[in-house]
Formats: sequence, C-alpha cells, structure tokens
Amino acid sequence: MTSLKASHAADLVAALLFILSLAGLSQHRTSRAGVVYGIAGMALALVATVVVAARSITAGAVALIVLAMALGAAMGLWRARRVEMTQMPELIAVLHSFVGLAAVLVGWNSYLEVDSHGSAQTRIGANLLGIHHAEVFIGIFIGAVTFTGSIVAFLKLSARIKSRPLMLPGKNALNLGALAAFVVLTIWFAISPNLPLMIAVTALALALGWHLVASIGGGDMPVVVSMLNSYSGWAAAAAGFLLDNNLLIVTGALVGSSGAYLSYIMCKAMNRSFLSVIAGGFGIAAPSGGEEEQGEHREVRAAEAAEMLAQARSVIITPGYGMAVAQAQHPVAELTRQLCERGIEVRFGVHPVAGRLPGHMNVLLAEAKVPYDIVLEMDEINDDFADTSVVLVIGANDTVNPAATEDPGSPIAGMPVLRVWEAEQVIVFKRSMASGYAGVQNPLFFRENSSMLFGDAKQSVEEILHALSTDSRHDAAPAARQATVASH
Ligand code: TAP
Repeated sequence: MTSLKASHAADLVAALLFILSLAGLSQHRTSRAGVVYGIAGMALALVATVVVAARSITAGAVALIVLAMALGAAMGLWRARRVEMTQMPELIAVLHSFVGLAAVLVGWNSYLEVDSHGSAQTRIGANLLGIHHAEVFIGIFIGAVTFTGSIVAFLKLSARIKSRPLMLPGKNALNLGALAAFVVLTIWFAISPNLPLMIAVTALALALGWHLVASIGGGDMPVVVSMLNSYSGWAAAAAGFLLDNNLLIVTGALVGSSGAYLSYIMCKAMNRSFLSVIAGGFGIAAPSGGEEEQGEHREVRAAEAAEMLAQARSVIITPGYGMAVAQAQHPVAELTRQLCERGIEVRFGVHPVAGRLPGHMNVLLAEAKVPYDIVLEMDEINDDFADTSVVLVIGANDTVNPAATEDPGSPIAGMPVLRVWEAEQVIVFKRSMASGYAGVQNPLFFRENSSMLFGDAKQSVEEILHALSTDSRHDAAPAARQATVASH
C-alpha cells in the first residue's frame, strides 16, 4: 500500500517535471534546464514503474526489465551521439514508430491476456467491458497509424523513397472510408470481441497510416513529422488507459496536444490548411510543377562575389538546408563580422521551415555566435529585400522560391517565402541546378539579377573570405560583374 502511494507521488512529480521541461524548452535561454527536467522526470517514472512491478513479478522478470532498459539506453546513447543535426527529423520519425508499435503491442496484449483468460469481467466489471474493448481498438488504431506513418516519413526524409505525394484515385474517399470502417468495427468489437476483428482493425490502421503519409509530399513533410509526434502522444495515452497508468495518460496527452499545436503553428507559417494536412493532403490537387529547368542561368566566381559584397551598402543572408550540410555556419559568421567591420549592414532572414527541423538555422547561427539581434524572422525582414544591395542565398532553395507566390500550379503554391528576388543582386550558393526538398525547380536561378556560385557552401564562403582578405582596397572601384552565361 505504502509503495503504491509512493508510486502515485512519483508519477505526480514526474508529470510536473515534464511540464517544466516543455516550458524550459520553449526558450533558448532555458532550454538546457528543460532537457534536465525531462531527463529527471523520465528517470523517476522508470524507477517508480519498475519498483511497483517488482512487487508482483519474479526476480527473473525484474532482471529482464532492467536488461531491456540497459540495452535500450545503450542503443539510444549510441544513436544520439552519432546522429547529425540534419538527420534529426529521420531519427524522430523512427522513435515515433516505436511508440506506435508499443501501443499496438499493448492493445494486443490486453486483448490476448485479459480477454481470452476471462479475467476481464472480474477486473473491469461486466458493465465497463464494452468501454474496455473500445479502448483496445482505439489504442491499436492510433498506434498502427503512427507506426506505418512514421516509417513512411522516415523513408521520405532519408530520401530512400521519393518525397512526392502519392496520388491514388479517390484518395480522400479511401481515407474517409477507412475511418468509417474503423467506427463500425469498433462498435462491433465492443459488442462482440473476437480475433478476426482484431486482425482486421490492425491491418486497416497499418494501411491507413501508410497511405496518409504517402499522400503528403514536398513542403508539407515538416508538418507531418510534428503531426506524427502528436499521434504518438495520443497512442501513448491510449496505452496508458489500457495499462491503468496515469503517468502515461498525462505524458501522452502532453505530447499529443503540444505536437498538434506545433503542427498548427507550422501550417499557419506555410499557409497550409491544418485539417487538410492531418487528413493526408485532403483536398490538395496533384501538383503540376516539375524539376525541369526554365531558361538560362548566370554563374559568378567567389572573387567576383567578394567584389560585389565589398561594394554593397546592405547584405541579407538567407541560410537553408545546404548551409547545415556544408557546416558553413562558422565561415558565414566570420564573413558577417568582416562585412560589418567594413561598415556594411548585414542581417539574416530565417524562414520558419528552413533546414530540416524547427529552429534548425537559429541553432546553427547561435552555435557560430552570430548575434541574435541581426537574425530576423521571415515576417520581420521580408519588406526589406527591395532596399538591399546583395542577398546571399546560402544553401536555401524552396524557402526562396518565387513559384510559391507566382505559380498557383506549383506544389509549394501558397507557402510564404523570403522575397529575395526583390534585392538588387542575389547570389545563390549551391553545388548544382538540382531542386530542393520539395522537388520543384526554382525560377529564382534564372532571374536577371541572380547569379549561381557553384560549389560546397563552406568552401565558397571561405574563398570569398580569402578574396576579401587579399583585397586591401576597401574602397575599390565599382565591381563590374563578369557573369558567365550558361545556356541549356
Ligand atoms: P532545400 O529546399 O531543401 O534546398 C537545399 C539546397 O541546398 C539544395 O537545393 C542543395 O542544392 C543545396 N545544398 C545541399 N548541400 C549543399 C552544400 N554542401 N553546399 C551548398 N549547397 C548545398 O532547403 P530550404 O530552402 O532550407 O528548405 C527546406 C525544405 O525542407 C522545405 O521544403 C521544407 O518544407 C523542408 N523540410 C523542412 C523541415 C523543417 S521543420 N525545417 C523538416 C523537413 C522538411 P545542391 O544539391 O545543388 O547543392
């Protein structure tokens, strides 16, 4: 009795620590404390669970639990130490799939152990048995959707499959039909539980999860990751009901609601309908844009780019995923410092979904010690491009694509973007003419005022730094841009 009370108290403290963790993680300054609260809460929850379990199971079973925990912790530490920042969304997608799978297994276990041994009536009471069966079904359904959905998200994010949306004929009817079938099956199972219905709902939910995420493509993938985060929370909460575990219910609800809210904020930033995205791209027509090139582009070399910068009044740098791949943030910070020393105004314009995870660019720029006050959000800087001498697009593509505002048939139509093309000159740092994450060609590259600086972004910025350092004439004559016209 005493140990049960202690375990309830531990659950309460752990839940409070998780809430403190979420609050801490919402700000740069307090994020480290947020991580510590989260670790403390999880450690407390694990110890309390094992201590309570140890009262009713054998020492051998406790040893097995501890062994499983040690193995899981070792694998988690190993992956977390090796993972690159750019691979974080993939890792998160894999972890969500584990939560989904766990919820499915808990549901199946609850059915096989409790129902088939007939102990359900005595434990739950005949009146509540229907509700228990509905819980089993809901847990399995959310878990299985999360499981396959997260696997597809992982495959798309790691470029193992194409990120373009799957457009099956009648895809909206398929999704709605699957939901309707789930409701019918749940009522049927609550009245008369049986194994074939368990198999049917599991297969239905696995297929729906796969189809939901496969139907979402390109620019909407960040929302999918946070949406799956939310689903995994609800799957954990459903497992909590089945296991009679209050902490799992509270934690699942925290994850579920914060993930849903993050998805909503991201949809607003990308001008997407939240309901449409969570319903597997409901109502989104097949995109018409492609990867084909749209004209001639100009090329510029690092030395010429350095001259253009030396002549500039004001510079805006818009970083993207390529800056993270090249790990160019340190030379970019050095370039910023040197240009500022020359009296040139330098600022950064950060798109809400630049890179591969929320806040990706802000983390990299903070790591390179770029001052916070010159790093501006898209809405804060978008009106200033028209009055800017040079924009450096460093490894960004989709987030600076004018097709989003100008081509209603583009797969990224309607997504707000950084209007870099309004500046006097734009220099795009990338390795080739390849498209970005959404697989859409970028008309920016073919504009009169744009030049491509081909090569790895880190190397290109270092070459510019070298050219600037050898240029002793800070007040050099106006740069006559020697643009090479490459035709296709
Ligand atoms: P992207 O559109 O992904 O384009 C990145 C560009 O960087 C590519 O065109 C690539 O061109 C270039 N690049 C890659 N490695 C490089 C290197 N070493 N040096 C120089 N350039 C390099 O980037 P973005 O503008 O940041 O947009 C982000 C995209 O990812 C959006 O579509 C967004 O929806 C999606 N997404 C975002 C998130 C979050 S939450 N931020 C999560 C998942 C997906 P080359 O290959 O020619 O070099």
